Amino acid sequence: MYEKEISSLLAVEGLCERDIFDALEKPKEAKMGDICLPCFKFARAMRLAPPAIAAKLAPYIENAEFISKAEIVGGYLNMHFDRSAMADKLKPLSAKNVVIGRSDEGEGKTICIDYSSVNIAKPFHIGHLSTTVIGGALYRIFEHLGYGVVGINHLGDWGTQFGKLIVATRLWSSLDEVAKNDEYFLNSLYVRYHKEAETRPELDDEARAWFKRIEDGDGEAVAYFDVFKAVTMKAVGRIYDRLKIKFDSYAGESFYNDKMGACLDILRDKRLLVESEGAQVVNLDEYNMPPCLLVKADGATLYATRDIAAAYYRKATYDFDKCLYVVAYQQNLHFKQLFQVLKLMDFAGVDDMEHIAFGMVSMEDGAMSTRSGRVVWLRDVLDRAVEKAAAIIEEKNPDNADKNAIAESVGVGAVVFSALWNNRIKDITFSFDKVLNFDGETAPYVQYTYARCASALRKGGEFSADKADMDAITDDDGYEVIKSVLGFADSVRQAAKLREPCCVTRHVVDLAEKFNRFYIGHRIVVEDDGVRNARLMLTQAVANVIKTGLNLLGIDAPEEM
Ligand code: ARG
Repeated sequence: MYEKEISSLLAVEGLCERDIFDALEKPKEAKMGDICLPCFKFARAMRLAPPAIAAKLAPYIENAEFISKAEIVGGYLNMHFDRSAMADKLKPLSAKNVVIGRSDEGEGKTICIDYSSVNIAKPFHIGHLSTTVIGGALYRIFEHLGYGVVGINHLGDWGTQFGKLIVATRLWSSLDEVAKNDEYFLNSLYVRYHKEAETRPELDDEARAWFKRIEDGDGEAVAYFDVFKAVTMKAVGRIYDRLKIKFDSYAGESFYNDKMGACLDILRDKRLLVESEGAQVVNLDEYNMPPCLLVKADGATLYATRDIAAAYYRKATYDFDKCLYVVAYQQNLHFKQLFQVLKLMDFAGVDDMEHIAFGMVSMEDGAMSTRSGRVVWLRDVLDRAVEKAAAIIEEKNPDNADKNAIAESVGVGAVVFSALWNNRIKDITFSFDKVLNFDGETAPYVQYTYARCASALRKGGEFSADKADMDAITDDDGYEVIKSVLGFADSVRQAAKLREPCCVTRHVVDLAEKFNRFYIGHRIVVEDDGVRNARLMLTQAVANVIKTGLNLLGIDAPEEM
């Protein structure tokens, strides 16, 4: 706050505005002020000791209208803001239901975000939670800042697993039965296939032959493929609804079947494609990477080949300014290879592509594999979280008419929040008790704080910022709340810049903690008009920030809990 104004006022005595701006810091302790300038960096240029510099600069700032006090402490110039002026800034943020921190700074820019990108014919498992919710949050955060966002679900809808499923369906079920059932039934066929194939290796030959028929566009084979895809998409759609996730494009791997040829031609023209044991690869020795395999000896293309085609397609279709891939860090090498190959191809968008990596989510009891069937399905995790949330709500508020809807918001919110709490790259071990703890750094805690605000606002009725007595909210506790409210827009910007939704997650928890401290020490709805108006104004601003923040993360803010 006020960094620009301060830098401009202190650009005196030979100091330049940019240097001041870069040097400004947040003091270690709140009582040292709101912002400080360490003067050590200027000692050499000014030929003065740091305390003397601070003393020299103080007069230039202490009369600024937004400053209440400038102190010299050691080599620091500590500045305290005028708290009433800060409180005044709340006014536009304290109307009912204003969305906070929206801006148009991204206007005219397009960001493609490739996220979730689930694999067809497998139920949605917990391994796809992070990409889905991180991608969804980034989508909304960039949209909030005015960017044009294109959400892309690069479906994993191509590969030999389809041949295996056809074999399994023909042996143990039928197309009709599969079409009538859900994704779990489909998966049970897949699991059975792998068990039987261990002793009957000829199944794999059959599966390969069926997949070849899909590749060749054979009607019977494609009919199976279409049913597998439809069953999965229906199931996945239900999960996306619960997680409030949407996409602008579902162009997945199969979409690129007819678009790879042109890319392979470019590679051949540039003499980048070389034979290696019958396969065609791009050699990346020079970049300390294994070769990137693009065409197998039998002519089949690969994941990487499809990603090259997708890059060209996206650039041509959306003319993106940035293209983000929200994909687990296990694929670091894939993206390094992909970007390197695109660079060698002189592909125009390559410098604007980023791999947004994230860590693994595991349950307390360990890892998973789709083949063995020991997988943690996301639907089960959501259902269980909702069930547990329902039990807690039943205890706290048994008469609530909306308790089922609230339990869904709290349970699902808790799971989403837990995947957005840390820096992306950290691995997460998921625990129901932890994510549903109403006193922790959790969605329910923040939602509960929101409901507390909403309840105070219902009780308090109409209020007006013009009648507010700012002294009622500018003591230390209130002032912390004010600063957190005013700082929210910066956290959203930071989240976009770092591609880290956790900047928003952490901000809403910080605000909730500060507001709760204030709430415990101060009554909101009191007799005194000035005090009541000020406290309701603050409460409404807090509610607006929390709701905006939760919604950016894809989480509901129920009015009651
Ligand atoms: N379907 C892949 C997986 O589940 C992720 C795809 C990511 N996007 C991409 N363009 N490669 O691992």
